[in-house]
Amino acid sequence: MSSLYVSLKTPISQSSCLRRRFNLGREPSQLCRINGQRAPTTCVSVGVEAPENAGKKLGFLTSKEVIEAEAKYLVGTYARAPVAVVSGKGSKLYDVEGREYLDLSSGIAVNALGHGDEDWLKAVIEQANTLTHVSNIYYSLPQVELAERLVASSFADRVFFTNSGTEANEAAIKFARKFQRNLHLDVKRPATEFIAFSNCFHGRTMGALALTSKEHYRSPFEPVMPGVTFVEYGNIQATKELIQRGKTAAVFVEPIQGEGGIYSATKEFLQFLRAACDEAGALLVFDEVQCGLGRTGYLWAHEAYGVFPDIMTLAKPLAGGLPIGAVLLTERIASAIAYGDHGSTFAGGPLVCNAALAVLDKISKPDFLSSVSKKGFHFKEILKQKLGGNPHVKEIRGPGLIIGIELDVSGSPVVDACRESGLLVLTAGKGNVVRLVPPLIITEDELSQAADILYQALLVLDEKK
Ligand SMILES: Cc1ncc(COP(=O)(O)O)c(C=O)c1O
Repeated sequence: MSSLYVSLKTPISQSSCLRRRFNLGREPSQLCRINGQRAPTTCVSVGVEAPENAGKKLGFLTSKEVIEAEAKYLVGTYARAPVAVVSGKGSKLYDVEGREYLDLSSGIAVNALGHGDEDWLKAVIEQANTLTHVSNIYYSLPQVELAERLVASSFADRVFFTNSGTEANEAAIKFARKFQRNLHLDVKRPATEFIAFSNCFHGRTMGALALTSKEHYRSPFEPVMPGVTFVEYGNIQATKELIQRGKTAAVFVEPIQGEGGIYSATKEFLQFLRAACDEAGALLVFDEVQCGLGRTGYLWAHEAYGVFPDIMTLAKPLAGGLPIGAVLLTERIASAIAYGDHGSTFAGGPLVCNAALAVLDKISKPDFLSSVSKKGFHFKEILKQKLGGNPHVKEIRGPGLIIGIELDVSGSPVVDACRESGLLVLTAGKGNVVRLVPPLIITEDELSQAADILYQALLVLDEKK
């Protein structure tokens, strides 16, 4: 019997509803089988074993039951794929029925180390056993250590932690506004406006949402933060005209757009943005929430361009699946921020920061980063060979392991067909891009397997005609 199971048992047994759900009273050995087979488990040396067959442990016997309960109790914000995931190991996920999936979605570019990485798990368990949460009223060691490591490996001088990507962008918005206000204390109207670009995605909270280009995300919630202008991604002339008006507090840009469809900025565009921001006194913010932290084969996506921002936002893979976000900034901007200007109860907690240290340790190693580039290059080559002949495939693009297959039709039937064949992939853009963001630890064999499934899945497009 696992010690985690034992520790859950006492408080839960007080509720008869939960008693039914958690199958209390049954021997754990009875709960550890899916279709008669043991589900994959993770065991680390600190002596805590993951509960085997977590689905049955919670009282759900089939995916259908999970899907029905979700439809009844959850707010309907997610059009979920019909997969009820219970466990994962490496690049594989397993559902309630024990079906195996090759995961090229990585929790939307989050699980860089795959599922259940043992060093990550050890960092989480050891820290949970030491100190999980303490708030930002006090100092905590993993937070300070993580900030020091992020500073040492980037352009930045200081770090502010958040709990998600959208919160990192909210903080960046506030820091940019405060910086401009301090810089122009003598001016009645300091620069408060923002520039963002077509196909960009910066988050779902009111400020980050205002910076997100897709109108149907914004329009039901208007008015969102005013003062944002969208310019075509890569359009130097239009950006120049706007920024020269002197009202721009900051320009937000993803060096590689993820949700928008896997579009890479050109070097010329980012260099122009840097120079134009400097000239106009605006700040340049790189949103590397999706493309940063090793995904492109560089620790920071902008390294490939040799252009550096004033502020960079991070999130998704940083804590290996635990919620975290970070804003990295230069001293010039940080010095405009005072006590009380921003804060968070949870952000930068010891548990997530210790997990992030384990992630950063691995992904920042030169060998790890070059393996991402190599695998990405190889994967794109085999995708081009195998899929290039399909008339629906317009382009296969993206650096490292953030790859988009642009189609001339919706990618949804392809995503569905992949899933039915045991491969999890995402869409992006206007739904016409199949997005591949595998765990960075994926093997070349697994990538070849994914390419074979994608080849077959693309054939459904003609069958559906
Ligand atoms: C580039 C970018 N910025 C911000 C976000 C928002 O991150 P979160 O969902 O953690 O709030 C995302 C999420 O997909 C993203 O891709």
